Parts: sequence; C-alpha cells; structure tokens
Amino acid sequence: VFANVVQAPEDPILGVTVAYNKDPSPVKVNLGVGAYRTEEGKPLVLNVVRRAEQLLVNDPSRVKEYLPITGLADFNKLSAKLIFGADSPAIQENRVATVQCLSGTGSLRVGGEFLARHYHERTIYIPQPTWGNHPKVFTLAGLSVKTYRYYDPTTRGLNFEGLLADLSAAPPGAIVLLHACAHNPTGVDPTLDQWEQIRLLMRSKGLLPFFDSAYQGFASGNLDADAQSVRMFVADGGECLTAQSYAKNMGLYGERVGALSIVCKSADVATRVESQLKLVIRPMYSNPPIHGASIVATILKDRELYHEWTIELKAMADRIINMRQQLFDALRARGMPGDWSHIIKQIGMFTFTGLNTEQVTFMTKEYHIYMTSDGRISMAGLSSKTVPHLTDAIHAAVTR
Ligand code: LMR
Repeated sequence: VFANVVQAPEDPILGVTVAYNKDPSPVKVNLGVGAYRTEEGKPLVLNVVRRAEQLLVNDPSRVKEYLPITGLADFNKLSAKLIFGADSPAIQENRVATVQCLSGTGSLRVGGEFLARHYHERTIYIPQPTWGNHPKVFTLAGLSVKTYRYYDPTTRGLNFEGLLADLSAAPPGAIVLLHACAHNPTGVDPTLDQWEQIRLLMRSKGLLPFFDSAYQGFASGNLDADAQSVRMFVADGGECLTAQSYAKNMGLYGERVGALSIVCKSADVATRVESQLKLVIRPMYSNPPIHGASIVATILKDRELYHEWTIELKAMADRIINMRQQLFDALRARGMPGDWSHIIKQIGMFTFTGLNTEQVTFMTKEYHIYMTSDGRISMAGLSSKTVPHLTDAIHAAVTR
C-alpha cells in the first residue's frame, strides 16, 4: 500500500550532517548545522550541566512520573524570568502564560497552532531569508506565511527600509516573526534604535510580535543584552509571544527543551490562554519530557550554578567571536578579492558568507567542507586548525 510513496529530499540543514557523516575524507569539516564544537571539533557538554545531572541522579525524591501538560512549573517560571527579566511587570502581574515545549521548534509550533485557532489574523510575516524550518512550522500549524524584506545582499547588512515598508504594508493585526538576536542565517540584527522603530511601527499597526529566541547569551555572551529586543516589546505593556530554546545556550540540543511564553494584557486572559495551550499540546504529545527541563531548572534556580553557566556560556560565545576574527584575518592575509568584513560584523553562530550555491557545491566536492547551500557557515564548527583549510576552499571557490 505504500508502493507509491516517493523519496523525500533530505532536510536542507540536518541533511548536511547526513552527507558529512557519509564522507570518508580525513579533512572533512562540518559547518552545516548550528551546533557548538570545541577547538578540538568535539561536541561540548557544559560542566554545569554535568553537575546539575549529578544532583538530579543523587536525589532519591526524583521520579519519572508524567509532567503536567504544561511541563515543569519551576522551569516555566524561571524561563519567563530569564527572557523577560526578573523585574518584568508582565511576570509580576501574572500576565504571562508559559508552557514547556520541545525546544524552539516545538515552542514555535505550539504557538503557531494556538494562533491559528484563537487569533483573528492568520497571516504570519517571516523575514527573508529566515531559518529554513520557519515556513514549514507555521504552514503546518495552519497559518498563512508571507515574507518581509530583511537582508540586503549588496551591503550584507539589514534592509531596514525594506523591512519597514513591508511591515507598514502588512494587514493590521498580522503576526510578525522576529529573531530576538543572532538572526539565523544572516547574523544581521537590527540596532537597538532600529528595534525601537520596529516596535513603534508594529504597535501603531497592531502587528503581533512572535519572537524566536534560540540564541540568548550566545550572541554577545550576555543573557540580558541578548534579550533586549524582547524586553522592549514587553515593557510597553502590549502582547507578544516568545519561543525559547536551550539547545545552544545550555548545549541541550538532544534534550529538546524549550518554552513558549505568551504575554497577555491581564492575569485572567493569561489563565484562559494557558488552558487553550493545554488543548493544543495534549493531542500532540500529551506532556513534555522531564529530564532536560529539570537540568535547566536546577541551574537557573541555584545562584552558584547559574553563575557557572554564565561563564561557560560566555566562553562559547567568545570562541565563536574569536573564530570570526581568525577567519577574517586569514582571508585578508590570503589576499582575497572583495570585502569580507561582514565576517566580523555579523552576530551569533553563523556567518552568511555571500558564497553562492555553485561555490558551496565546489567547496564540498573539492575540499570536503559541508555547509548549507545558501552559503551559511556555522562558526561554532570551525577551529584554529580548520581555518587554513576553509580559507583555501573559499579562495579557490571565489577565484576559480
Ligand atoms: C540550525 O539552524 O542549524 C539549527 O537551528 C539546527 C536546526 O535544527 O536547524
């Protein structure tokens, strides 16, 4: 009965790892998926995560019962505090409905399904370009996806005029997906002044902000600085949605731990919103897994563990920033034609190199360098040892 099922293509991001794993070359480098690697090219489990896990293992009161549909209560409270700030009026006034979800993707999907059922405007505007999974998540959630201009390939920076024009032309009430920081794939973020202009425009048109916060602390090394865009929209008293992921900033990729928060106008509304989120979640996966959320809660509620986390987080962010400088210096020393300063200007895990699909294919075939076909490289996958090889590959691709 399944004889007519056609072979589906690999995922444009996760499929890069599949191809990389099949390549027997000893010089291969995986710069595809956004997953942190050490200088030695190894995945990293944070020391603070190991410590939290030890505490959990040694605690005999820990059982494996089902969590509530909304997840671990402590985790939800602490996650809201992390993104909105401990002194956020929205939290103090109990106006935030937070549910634990399956990392960033799950939070976006649950938020999208809630909006498709309960919000009057079904159109969501996503930046052009954006993370490849965004349009699929929201379309399957039942929303209609449109794009707004974001990136300007000529300046390799923000197309701010285009962004404002497209949001101005959006129907009143439309949902707008915003990357809280470290825009994926471009590494281009609005300045605080530009955020303020975006906020004013969106509030004046009643556009609903839906933040994807996958890199809090990873962009600058500072958790508060990376949450500023979100906090500006919460400070004005209006509604917003936020999807948080702990994949990158705690290195909990495979634990699938994240949170969806919906900031409402009153505590009463937030209670009703939460009751409806439960109706979205229950038939989808009943309730979320306990382990990852327990790790996060253990770290966030303990002053010493929290401090240790911020230090390890900053070290990861700093290594990425350092890799940007090393790659930029190496390309300059190599006498590369053109301006490559975007490598040090862009923010977060990725550099949007400007290399085209054909150049990427060449680099993969001839140099065994794996990256997404849009020219995005994960700086976290690079090390001092692999910079010369990548420099050779880019040089050959650009000058051939
Ligand atoms: C990425 O963009 O590489 C990450 O967010 C991982 C993913 O799931 O795509």
